[in-house]
Amino acid sequence: MSDLAGKLALVTGGTRGIGRGIVAALLAADCRVALVGSDPGRSAAAAGELGPPDRVRGFGGDIGDPGAVAGLVAAATADLGEVDFLVNNAGITRDNLFVRLKTEEWDRVLAVNLSGAYHFCRALARPMMKRRAGRIVNISSVVGQIGNAGQVNYAASKAGLIGLTKSLARELAPRGVTVNAVAPGFIRTDMTDSLPPEAKDALLAGIPMGCLGEPADVAAAVLFLLGPGARYITGQVLGVNGGMVMQG
Ligand code: NAI
Repeated sequence: MSDLAGKLALVTGGTRGIGRGIVAALLAADCRVALVGSDPGRSAAAAGELGPPDRVRGFGGDIGDPGAVAGLVAAATADLGEVDFLVNNAGITRDNLFVRLKTEEWDRVLAVNLSGAYHFCRALARPMMKRRAGRIVNISSVVGQIGNAGQVNYAASKAGLIGLTKSLARELAPRGVTVNAVAPGFIRTDMTDSLPPEAKDALLAGIPMGCLGEPADVAAAVLFLLGPGARYITGQVLGVNGGMVMQG
């Protein structure tokens, strides 16, 4: 039996891509999962594809809306019980060069990527502190570490997640709750699959390992941070990037 068996994880953005890989890995480790996506129907469908209803349930709503997050957390805990692990993975891009960036594009990316994680932390940190147990993992990005032209809004949201992670880690450490971030590099998803070959070659040239990562590579890092081996690790940013960024 896995070390994580029976624990309940809430994973945002679990319907596809990296989040779906995280949900699959958690289920393989005998966890139970509350899968959150933007649309209730798609979330329920993804949950149904990934496992039986006593192991994984789908919940849908806009995580950029604090009221919706309160409703999602209430529904998930009513159905499945206390959340042991929170994985803030949902994220969006609205890319534009800075001079063309619209305030709505800035606001929306910050609302979903950064405030979305904040709303879930607010709802779930207190019960974790009371139980003196719990793990939070925030999915940042290499772009939050080194920046990227055309992604000022996205980079700010992902760098913001790193600041949130470190500060919350300091506050929650005395209460037995750890908070860490995983910063993926370029991961093979629908987005990277659709890049033209020249763009893909240019991308690969900047990755020492010479290949893209897989959602399962990110999931493995998340599961490590949720597991007993990471008991003494908090406030850290774990890069999963093929050597693209190396931080001391
Ligand atoms: P994706 O676009 O394939 O999936 C995004 C997920 O987030 C979906 O499940 C969607 O329903 C959910 N979502 C989006 N907006 C939402 C909202 N307002 N409310 C509720 N759910 C919402 O994304 P992907 O590529 O799997 O990325 C997952 C995370 O990893 C994101 O935070 C992304 O920024 C980050 N990341 C991705 C990289 C990549 O190469 N794909 C690289 C570095 C970081």
